[in-house]
Amino acid sequence: MREAFAVAFGAEAAGIWSAPGRVNLIGEHTDYNGGLALPFGIDRRTRVAMRLRDDDVVRVASDFADAQAGGVVETTLDRAAEASGWSRYVLGAAHVLRRELGVPGTGFDALVSSDVPVGVGVSSSAALESAVLVALDELWGLGVERRAMIRLGQLVENEVVGAPTGTLDQSAVLLAERDHAVLLDFRAGTAEQVPLGFEAAGLEILVIDSLVRHDHATGGYGERRRECEEAARIAGVPTLREVAVDDVEAWAGRMPAAVHRRLRHVVTDTDRAARVAALVRAGRPLEIGSILTDGHRSQRDDFEDSVPAIDAAVDAAVAAGALGARLTGGGFGGAAIALVDVAASPRIQREVADAVEAAGHARPVVFAVHASQGARRDPEA
Ligand code: GLA
Repeated sequence: MREAFAVAFGAEAAGIWSAPGRVNLIGEHTDYNGGLALPFGIDRRTRVAMRLRDDDVVRVASDFADAQAGGVVETTLDRAAEASGWSRYVLGAAHVLRRELGVPGTGFDALVSSDVPVGVGVSSSAALESAVLVALDELWGLGVERRAMIRLGQLVENEVVGAPTGTLDQSAVLLAERDHAVLLDFRAGTAEQVPLGFEAAGLEILVIDSLVRHDHATGGYGERRRECEEAARIAGVPTLREVAVDDVEAWAGRMPAAVHRRLRHVVTDTDRAARVAALVRAGRPLEIGSILTDGHRSQRDDFEDSVPAIDAAVDAAVAAGALGARLTGGGFGGAAIALVDVAASPRIQREVADAVEAAGHARPVVFAVHASQGARRDPEA
């Protein structure tokens, strides 16, 4: 990367910073409802090599497949909010940092390289904006705390990109630790590291990319969010976290049926996240599979944010012997995850791809992921 940086910009990078993609084990669409979620950082990372300039020019290059070969986006700090395409995650991070912290900042050159797949639901966008946030934080000498950085990343999504998302992705990417998931409580604002113990139990997580792409700035995500707000308004609570599992059915018939189904998903998924976290913490990860699959049914039937190719992947994974499987991330496309025995993993990967293709969908791309370190400056040899 250092060589590529020197070729692109004719200067030495000051360092390389990176951030992982994330998989959410359970707890979906709970973040903006004050609930619980249990994500982990994955061993696919976005890296940013950077150096400061002595003017206000910003130059950004990447090796993304969709970036023009050798193309460099060039602008100034003051025009960073006008960015489009993938570079808005980089420029948006600079813009939000300057505005929220009231610092002038200085121009910079950045080269981005990533093996986090884009549009899959594993938070390639949070990985990119978070890698840039930690890089600029260090180079601009700001000392922003991780909790504050989570909010800055969300502002990039909400304001610069226009996606009305919560803080699940940035929390996962910025707080992740190797071999741990992080139990996020969005009402209390707490984050607790939970050792996964997957390796010791002979387990791993597969990501099954449906190749159905989603866009949370324009897709059904915003509609679901409004439906959740409607449910909270009718139930007379500040967030759906205030509705107990046992009270869910009492609301049936007192709100539109679809809105009630959204409520049921959100409330029961927080309950599932709590139960999965407790089992994992107790060293019983072999027992979480059916809770994951219940979570998928809840998303498919109640939250209605799955798609047929992902339902097919979940069914195929369970039929092939996965302990459990579910849609992960914002939905309306993206990927399923499956919890599998490491010894059976290659066979399950093959059988899932075969079965989904035989059901008339695109052949999914399947890969294993392992819980990895969050955003940081990369050590260099
Ligand atoms: C996307 C959003 C998150 C969260 C999930 C659903 O990943 O960015 O804020 O709402 O969807 O759990």
